Amino acid sequence: MNTGIQLAYLVASVLFIIGIKYLGKTKDARKGNFISAVGMLIAIVATLLTLDVLTFIEIGVCVLIGSVIGLYYASKVPMTKIPEMVALFNGFGGLASFAVALSDYYLKSETNLASLDAVNLTSILLSLLIGGVTFTGSMVAYLKLDGKVSGQPITFKGQHALNLFLLIAFVAASVLVFLDPTQVTFIVILIVISLLLGVLTVIPIGGADMPVVISLLNSYSGMAACATGFILNNNVLIVAGSLVGASGIILTQIMCKAMNRSLVNVLLGGFGQTVATGGADGPAVVVKEIGVEETAMLFDSASSVIVVPGYGMAVAQAQHVIRELMEQCEKRNINFRFAIHPVAGRMPGHMNVLLAEANISYDKLIEMDDINEDFANTDLVFIVGANDVVNPAARTNPDSPIFGMPILNADKARTVIVSKRSMGKGYAGVENELFGYPNCLMLFGDAKQTITKVVSEMKDMA
Ligand code: TAP
Repeated sequence: MNTGIQLAYLVASVLFIIGIKYLGKTKDARKGNFISAVGMLIAIVATLLTLDVLTFIEIGVCVLIGSVIGLYYASKVPMTKIPEMVALFNGFGGLASFAVALSDYYLKSETNLASLDAVNLTSILLSLLIGGVTFTGSMVAYLKLDGKVSGQPITFKGQHALNLFLLIAFVAASVLVFLDPTQVTFIVILIVISLLLGVLTVIPIGGADMPVVISLLNSYSGMAACATGFILNNNVLIVAGSLVGASGIILTQIMCKAMNRSLVNVLLGGFGQTVATGGADGPAVVVKEIGVEETAMLFDSASSVIVVPGYGMAVAQAQHVIRELMEQCEKRNINFRFAIHPVAGRMPGHMNVLLAEANISYDKLIEMDDINEDFANTDLVFIVGANDVVNPAARTNPDSPIFGMPILNADKARTVIVSKRSMGKGYAGVENELFGYPNCLMLFGDAKQTITKVVSEMKDMA
């Protein structure tokens, strides 16, 4: 391959790395996306110039079809359905690697058997395994998240033993392919095993744990692309695949750590279903209610407010009305900020995305570690549809399934108001003792509806 193309690949790889660096901060994320996109454009143009397999017309037709489908879905998908969309993306990434591996095997076994050397065969087999698992695993994750199949874990006796057996069978069949690469039967066995493994490893995991699984599958899709890079002898694919693989694993680790879970615990499944009524709850909490008018008055008299958004804000789509609440408070010179827990909601950055959609400026969103000390000096904390991420049991109750999970210290504020519909539990399925604390008041009702009323009260007061 000529030097110009290799240089273009190098530039693209550097842009990917710079792009990822910028993605680390919310305010720079758009810039990071743009830089990575430029890198991708350079990589694509350089690959097209090599003109290895297809003509420009064939490629143009494929790009057109893909772009039309992509544009249609991206413009239609609501924010709450992004995890489903990411699951589909990962799945198709895995499928692409899987298809490249198969076609490369087919071409070489038909025309150039000698080129199927150890490196090439290993890359093909890894691409088949990881790509196949990513494809079917992501499809199951998508179906569960979208409610097309039950989100409940599907388990049966001997499930883990069966998975282990299939993995060993894959290794055995791979050895046979090495011994005789012309044996198509073994390749068919490998295809079936890899597709089956994707389904079997994801079905025991509950719907609520799917975001972690999707992040893991994202990492797998990167590893599959990396293996495909070795098949095609394409350096930029190897680099980009490794970056996706590594960042996916890091994100998975961050999510598990923020939930105080191990990856093994997530992959074995059942969380939230089995612990929901576990004995760690203690007696039911007795709560004090507050109405819309009193809530508006408390806001009116506060000088500092921290809003803690959670999954319920996403359900209620209350972000826009919260911006109106912020505007009312800022008119009164109230110091108004948002405390963002790393796993609030159901996907990484869930709260940031929703609040950005409502045009709330990034500098108002403060990460947990940077704001936790400030709660004790805050007049009013307004918890909107958050539950687990403010549950003091994570600090105080060693029997609680969330014990050890880092939480926002909302309970330390002078007054806490919680907006939620009922005494319903959060994702972890445990009671929240904060709701019974003397400084805590419950504002019951759908977050969007009640906050709309609070805002209108505040407008009347002004
Ligand atoms: P949760 O603990 O899940 O609590 C959400 C609360 O929102 C519920 O208690 C619910 O109470 C309330 N709610 C639902 N609909 C509402 C509405 N329309 N209006 C007002 N309130 C509503 O949320 P969280 O505090 O954000 O915690 C997130 C949880 O998800 C953590 O346990 C985390 O580990 C887990 N998780 C997160 C991720 C990522 S990456 N973010 C991934 C997997 C799991 P009512 O039913 O009473 O209204």
